Amino acid sequence: MTGRHEAPGEQVPPGVDPEIPSAARAYDYLLGGGHNFAADRELAKKIQVVQPGVVRIAQQNRAFLRRAVLFMVEAGVRQFLDLGSGIPTVGNVHEIAQAAAPDARVVYVDYDPVAVAHSRLLLAHNDNADIVDADITRPHDVLDAGPARRLLDLDRPVGLLAVTIGHYIPPEADPAGLFARYRDALAPGSFLALTHLTDDFTAIRGEQIVNTMKSSRNNVFPRTREEVLKLFTGYGLVEPGLVTTSSWRPGKGVTSMQDTERDGLYAGVGRRL
Ligand SMILES: C[S@@+](CC[C@H](N)C(=O)[O-])C[C@H]1O[C@@H](n2cnc3c(N)ncnc32)[C@H](O)[C@@H]1O
Repeated sequence: MTGRHEAPGEQVPPGVDPEIPSAARAYDYLLGGGHNFAADRELAKKIQVVQPGVVRIAQQNRAFLRRAVLFMVEAGVRQFLDLGSGIPTVGNVHEIAQAAAPDARVVYVDYDPVAVAHSRLLLAHNDNADIVDADITRPHDVLDAGPARRLLDLDRPVGLLAVTIGHYIPPEADPAGLFARYRDALAPGSFLALTHLTDDFTAIRGEQIVNTMKSSRNNVFPRTREEVLKLFTGYGLVEPGLVTTSSWRPGKGVTSMQDTERDGLYAGVGRRL
């Protein structure tokens, strides 16, 4: 695969049709990564046309992920399940968590072959982190997989991460029911951190993003605040509640980055009741 300045002609892993762009690889490109194909870069560029602030949206999302993981580590969580973890990039969950708590364990889940292959390479020598190649809409496949059984103790609190993943779940897959199934598998005191695309704010052109993504493997379904709140059923939202990415506990000195109108993603952390 090639970086953004190199010519196409990349090696194609088994199971990948390089002509069909994927969310994982377009997102990797937007974050400056090199694990993407020409079709992914084309998709990312089309998204940039309809949503010029999309790189900022991705960066604020990653910054939220970092703050949410550190918040959970501080609350005592030592095991994480990262649904739709994507292609490894700067600031992966195991790097953030294990820097703060070396005994932290992390299970990643994704179904994109490039995301899975690169995660396996990165984690080959890390006994406390692994990836499950599974569809997150099938919780049993995730929770019964070897890495999850080996690394997660479901009798103790887990940090469940659903960061820019809920909007890939179509209405017919019943997102609220799916989140409830994960919640029911977790011990009280577990946390759910999520971000979710919305077009509640006029600066976000949800409909055009939806149409652009139709050429990819991953359709998107922006949701309203009320719909996103339903995903937190059975959790108590921690302060400041459901906000947008840059407004969720911004660190000192970064308040200038706060811009609810342009974040594009609702963000929140809830504690399982
Ligand atoms: C935009 S990336 C997000 C990566 C990371 N969570 C983050 O927020 O930085 C979304 C990821 O979800 C994965 N994904 C989408 N639907 C999925 C599903 N049903 N099962 C497993 N992974 C899925 C995609 O392959 C992609 O890697």
